[in-house]
Amino acid sequence: MGLIVVAGPASPKLGRRIANLLKCDLASLEWKRFPDGESYIRLPVDLKGESVVVVQSTSPPQDKRLMELFFMLDLINELGAREVTVVIPYLAYMRQDKRFRDGEVISVRVVSKLIESFNVDRIVLVDVHSRLVLDYFNVDVVEVSAMPLIGSYFSNIDLSNPFVLAPDRKALNLAEKVAEKIDCEFDFLEKRRDRVTGEVKTYFKKMNVDGRDVIIVDDIISTGGTIANAAEMVKGLGARRIYAACTHALLVKDALMKLSSAGIFEIIGTDTIESNVSKVSVAPAIVSVL
Ligand code: R5P
Repeated sequence: MGLIVVAGPASPKLGRRIANLLKCDLASLEWKRFPDGESYIRLPVDLKGESVVVVQSTSPPQDKRLMELFFMLDLINELGAREVTVVIPYLAYMRQDKRFRDGEVISVRVVSKLIESFNVDRIVLVDVHSRLVLDYFNVDVVEVSAMPLIGSYFSNIDLSNPFVLAPDRKALNLAEKVAEKIDCEFDFLEKRRDRVTGEVKTYFKKMNVDGRDVIIVDDIISTGGTIANAAEMVKGLGARRIYAACTHALLVKDALMKLSSAGIFEIIGTDTIESNVSKVSVAPAIVSVL
């Protein structure tokens, strides 16, 4: 009886990195999409008595990624796994963690109920949007942070008098973790989002960033609006190089262009969402709790 990693279609690289660090097998998973868009999963392995670690991000296309996860979990139970740990590096719908306006669905609560219905023993998440998200789970759930790893990435870069900035109050604890690794100053901005239009307004703040490299840190970069506002501000205050770092680089629509026009020198994301900006792997953080 051993340990085996099953990497879902959204997380092949991260799954392999986790299996390598754990020095265990990676199950070969077959998957495809039918012409009508439906997902197909096949797991031709014997999991009887095994302890299984499933790794599947639920980044866009979220609903398809969730269905793939449900298919994998159902199969793994049927194939006789003894224990199932589900690693969901990016948890879809986690920003809708409460009712912001009357009559809204609490989307992440629905997602948590569905995941739990598959008889899982443990869930591992990375930098969830808020503590509330964890409260919706009734099974053992553990959150790890990519921030110390992102901090280490920056420790290896030659930075000029660095300054870490959280683009809103919620990201302050993330910025603090990165600043701690680099051993530099950090601060945060005030931001308001219009709940209907989604438009972001960032309030001006005087900061001592003239001639310094600024690292703007957030949990998620989606449309890039939040980071772009912060970047424009520090650029106006004389910042030298401006970096954008986040755990989950969704980078939807024209986010890359928006960030580049706002003066971002480099974008650093992780492999919670596998892409060209996945420069930091969260595998060590995940393995530390397995
Ligand atoms: C929201 O509060 C999150 O922490 C991020 O700040 C947000 O998701 C970023 O979104 P966008 O890139 O669209 O501004």
